[in-house]
Amino acid sequence: MNAPIVSFNHVGKTFDVDGFELEAIREFNLDIAEGEFVAIVGSSGCGKSTLLRLLVGLDRQFRGQISVDGKAVTGIGGERGIVFQEHRLFPWLSVADNIGLGLVNEPLSAAQKHKRIHDFIALVGLGDFARAYPHQLSGGMAQRVAIARGLVASPRILLLDEPFGALDALTRQQMQDELLAIRARAKITTVLVTHDVEEAIFLADRVVVMEPRPGRIKQVVDIALPHPRQRSSFDFHQLREELLHELTSDGHYQPPVSVQVRDLPLSFIAY
Ligand SMILES: Nc1ncnc2c1ncn2[C@@H]1O[C@H](COP(=O)(O)OP(=O)(O)O)[C@@H](O)[C@H]1O
Ligand SMILES: [Mg+2]
Repeated sequence: MNAPIVSFNHVGKTFDVDGFELEAIREFNLDIAEGEFVAIVGSSGCGKSTLLRLLVGLDRQFRGQISVDGKAVTGIGGERGIVFQEHRLFPWLSVADNIGLGLVNEPLSAAQKHKRIHDFIALVGLGDFARAYPHQLSGGMAQRVAIARGLVASPRILLLDEPFGALDALTRQQMQDELLAIRARAKITTVLVTHDVEEAIFLADRVVVMEPRPGRIKQVVDIALPHPRQRSSFDFHQLREELLHELTSDGHYQPPVSVQVRDLPLSFIAY
């Protein structure tokens, strides 16, 4: 394997909750190759979002090392774009302006920004909605805007935290197809957090199965199925059974409840 683009080495994270120590992540080790698509699955509370927050540089209090391109992560950076489960669009900004927030830190002229924004609006199939406002969009469309905002600065790593969790099943499948199409055009290293085993198998090259309390890796599974993957195929079905068994065999698996929304600084949402 070439030098990994992302490397977690002995990463651990403990929160202080009212004077008690809550061990959220224990001994997480993972190397991700350039261009790879890794999915992290696990029940709610097993530290998936925490891992992404550490990787994106939002929280620097942790044990071990996380590096991107061999350099320790010390804060947020334009080479890492993130998309959350709730799209976090600003209601008073148009689709184009919401996507443009992803470019505020980029040294581009206004004309270059305009072109880039409209290229990405087209990429996610919203060509007719550049001037629309979030309340005029369906959930799937809003999530596409969020993905465009995550991609517009051309990050080398795209981090997705349950990005399709709030969508209905059909829209979710359409968005999964679209994500693969975008990836095929813009070879981008992708880390997807999901509780949906089927989504992980449909999309990823490798699936990291987490177990909770403390959050740690239970198993890493290679998904060698060729694309486009058939959800109804025998191999797909078997992998799904295997992974579901991994997730449920300790009796801890709980389907996720509501999403935890934590306020982020505007500078972060906008980078
Ligand atoms: N800011 C925080 N303060 C205290 N505890 C937290 C904080 N963020 C997460 N946790 C706890 O850490 C554990 C992992 O949370 P999280 O990473 O959100 O899990 P997941 O995304 O897998 O559902 C949970 O027990 C959660 O309550
Ligand atoms: Mg989470």
